[in-house]
Amino acid sequence: MEKKKAAVVDQSMLLCCKVFISESRNRAALDAIERAARRDPESVIVNKFEDRAYNRVTYTVVSYLVLDCTGNAVCSPLQQTVVAMAEAAYNAISLESHSGTHPRLGVVDDIMFHPLARASLNHAAWLAKAVARDIGTKFQVPSLLYGAAHEEGRMADAIRRELGYFKPNFNESQWAGGLNQESLALKPDEGPDQVDPGKGVVVIGATPWVDSFNIPVITTDLVAVRGIARRVSGRGGGLASVQAVALAHGESVVEVACYLLDPNTVGGPRVQLEVQRLAEEEGLDVSSGYYTVLSQDNIIQRYLRLFPLSATK
Ligand SMILES: *[C@@H]1O[C@H](CO)[C@@H](O)[C@H](O)[C@H]1NC(C)=O
Repeated sequence: MEKKKAAVVDQSMLLCCKVFISESRNRAALDAIERAARRDPESVIVNKFEDRAYNRVTYTVVSYLVLDCTGNAVCSPLQQTVVAMAEAAYNAISLESHSGTHPRLGVVDDIMFHPLARASLNHAAWLAKAVARDIGTKFQVPSLLYGAAHEEGRMADAIRRELGYFKPNFNESQWAGGLNQESLALKPDEGPDQVDPGKGVVVIGATPWVDSFNIPVITTDLVAVRGIARRVSGRGGGLASVQAVALAHGESVVEVACYLLDPNTVGGPRVQLEVQRLAEEEGLDVSSGYYTVLSQDNIIQRYLRLFPLSATK
């Protein structure tokens, strides 16, 4: 068998991919996705976060990146792994029978790449575009690019607002059923213009590191917590670099679910204090917030433990 030229795998060139899938109650579906991910041991699921109320799962997958002698990205095992996970998800899940209290536009709702260690945002963008091409053509799913993968740097939340993501389509707090948008309000970057309602669309992008931080507010008053989420977010004149939405989470909790776009400047503790202050004004109690993904450093450590890169291939 003709082997590739021996390449030394560089430990400092790593890419991270967060794959957000609209399912967490169907064990067989998650098993199939994880089996697909394990086909290549060079990509590692370093973290999984399942949320039953949201009926959504987040996988954090890491692998290395191979560069040519001019520093351009050539390949990463992450490409095949993420595409295989998406394929398993499309085979096992239909949006038509999915419901939950988290917004979604697709079975594979978001694929978000970040550079780790010494890899660059351009490297992450290269991989995002390659994965979008694969998903668009192989599975005929409209794919919309964001962040550094998009030529104008369009943000994911702008795409989502345009496509009505943030508005529950079933009742006040729930999203359910297929994506019935015969003609999309935006032209996809890859894949067909027509939407298969059972698969929906996927947004795929590359950004610097983002933390996800959720803060439970003890109430059923969605409207009050929507006000808090708006006021804590950059858009609402609150903390710059914070995006926030209010989502019903079980019987007696509404969460302020946040993306921290610049977590070194505005981190979880700062957002926690601000949400507490705003909730107090409404007479509401708040529990401790929690991260849904490991920190960058923990992710790198876990990858290196599970896939020691000193090996040459
Ligand atoms: C929305 O629908 C779900 C599922 O039928 C139900 O459990 C929930 O109570 C409804 N919520 C509202 C606010 O009507």
